[in-house]
Amino acid sequence: MTTSLRCALVGTGAVANLHALAVAAHPRADLVAVTDHTRSAADAFAERYDVPAVYDDLDGLLAAEDPDVVLICTPPGAHRGQTITVFAAGAHVVVEKPPASSLAELDEMRAAAVAADRELAVVFQQRTGTAAAHVRRLLHDGALGRPLIATCETLWYRGTDYFAVPWRGKWATEGGGTTLGHGIHQLDLLAFLLGDWATVRGELWRLDRETETEDASTATVTFASGVVAQVTTSAVSPREVSAIRIDTQKATITVEHLYGHGHDNWSISPAPGFEEESAAWAFPQNEERSDHGPLLRDVFDALLDGTPLPDTATAPARSFEIVAAIYASAAAGGAPITPSDLANHPTHRQSFASPVTDLRPGR
Ligand SMILES: NC(=O)c1ccc[n+]([C@@H]2O[C@H](COP(=O)([O-])OP(=O)(O)OC[C@H]3O[C@@H](n4cnc5c(N)ncnc54)[C@H](O)[C@@H]3O)[C@@H](O)[C@H]2O)c1
Repeated sequence: MTTSLRCALVGTGAVANLHALAVAAHPRADLVAVTDHTRSAADAFAERYDVPAVYDDLDGLLAAEDPDVVLICTPPGAHRGQTITVFAAGAHVVVEKPPASSLAELDEMRAAAVAADRELAVVFQQRTGTAAAHVRRLLHDGALGRPLIATCETLWYRGTDYFAVPWRGKWATEGGGTTLGHGIHQLDLLAFLLGDWATVRGELWRLDRETETEDASTATVTFASGVVAQVTTSAVSPREVSAIRIDTQKATITVEHLYGHGHDNWSISPAPGFEEESAAWAFPQNEERSDHGPLLRDVFDALLDGTPLPDTATAPARSFEIVAAIYASAAAGGAPITPSDLANHPTHRQSFASPVTDLRPGR
């Protein structure tokens, strides 16, 4: 059994910093090498985090270092190719959200993991933290009664400078717009709490930004358990919030935060007549906030111990499919999309490119 993990990282941009901190916090993991297609970015990153080796490309890194796990922090368009390369070299993969640019690419990545007998862990860190685990347990145990109706909001603000980065705002390199890039976080938490989806109706909007993809979307999602959720995602909202509300037969659950949540961000309000019962719903004493740290810690522990990956890092297709269905529905004029429609979809397993309704004046 491996006693410590030799980690390598590809793509030393913004999110890579969170990975480096998570590795540094783990007692049995070391960041041994990094690479980025901008050498100066990789050099600066290696200096910042005291990483001993920098390589010009991933192939060179894999050949020289033979790492146990590779953290893929590049833009989504690069995830599939790099994941398959890493599996072929015999290492495990931790890949940032969204896991790929399309469902077909994700299928290939999962097949490559099986063929190589390696693990594919996906970073959806909103699932982590003691509050989400607690609420999920209450919902699964039926303690709050049946969940009925939900809202899921990702109202973020990304200015024109954000979309000036060459890979952003384009179907070919980002794969999708704010629904795929931002809304997927909250949708993933919603689906982590509520389970399998049943139908999706969606629309895509271009309200203000110069993007090829959408800068806002609206959708109605029903879940197999009988919940209906209204989902709004935007990159043009100055007062930012990430929020989920779930009304069950016995209570209203809410979480409001921006990029991470602790117990203070959550509340469970009893319906009339369930006030006494609500004492049993109290959040646990020990609190851990949602973050990359707990996610990577639990993934690394599982890899070191040879146990299955935690459910915070598996089922990468769940929210990705809901996002894909929003795009597929938009392409079908807002018609409902089911899991079987999506499984057999002629275009949207390969690409999310879809018509966007442009509401900018004069367009
Ligand atoms: N989980 C989260 O909260 C979170 C937050 C931000 C970004 N992300 C995701 O992380 C990924 C990266 O986002 P970012 O904001 O760090 O982007 P970024 O542009 O800041 O960094 C990407 C880095 O990858 C490098 N790169 C690009 N293509 C490459 C290639 N083919 N080979 C090697 N290096 C390459 C770039 O030079 C850059 O340094 C995206 O998938 C994004 O959606 C996740």
